[in-house]
Amino acid sequence: MRTGVIIVAAGSGERLGAGVPKALVPVAGWPLVAWSVRAVQAATGVSAIVIACPPGLEAQMAAALGSGPPVQAIVPGGSSRQRSVANGIAALPGDVEAILVHDAARPLITPDLVDRLTAGLASSDAVIAAAPVADTLKRAGTDGRVQATLERSGIWGAQTPQVFRAGVLRAVFAEADEDELDAATDCAGMAERRGIGVALLDPGTPNFKVTTPADLRLAEVLLGAVHIA
Ligand code: C5P
Repeated sequence: MRTGVIIVAAGSGERLGAGVPKALVPVAGWPLVAWSVRAVQAATGVSAIVIACPPGLEAQMAAALGSGPPVQAIVPGGSSRQRSVANGIAALPGDVEAILVHDAARPLITPDLVDRLTAGLASSDAVIAAAPVADTLKRAGTDGRVQATLERSGIWGAQTPQVFRAGVLRAVFAEADEDELDAATDCAGMAERRGIGVALLDPGTPNFKVTTPADLRLAEVLLGAVHIA
């Protein structure tokens, strides 16, 4: 299946406090975003990759990545994650059959995970990486004390990559209004609201989002091991 990939890398990464946009922070020898680009380049069927980057930093992003095929375009991101995805969709070639959306902030993505997700499109319009929640869930009050313990069974944490039949994702975004583009935190949620079935696939390996300096150190250790291997 010809797959177009959108890597959203336009966040500021304020919580990381690195002084440069998160996607360009060096991790185990490469900028954070490069780990995701390398993984999708090595996956099966990927025919185009579009990267949404902080507006004005397109040249810096291109220099950080080198320009190995099939990177199609580096486009300016929007004011929200979903607006960055929309800009990416607009830059993909019209002939892709699947669209995979991935956060640059998850550098532990593997080619095998991409292949398993796209294979799932044989029986579903959408397939997302996600993991069952392992911790007991508490609702907190503003005073920092527990108000309630929540039922955990059947609760999964959604991750990326998220892959969709191309026509399905294009239609979802064509219908979305400004409020939805501002507020939605993932593409699957926008699809679910329109009755589209979304399958869950547990990567079975770490696939956390780098948000804090501690996450960055952990990613550095895990990806450093990849470099040595
Ligand atoms: O901020 P958050 O953790 O939700 O960001 C998830 C991903 O979306 C990150 O890879 C970030 O670079 C990207 N993003 C974006 N454009 C925005 C906000 C976030 O591409 N305006």
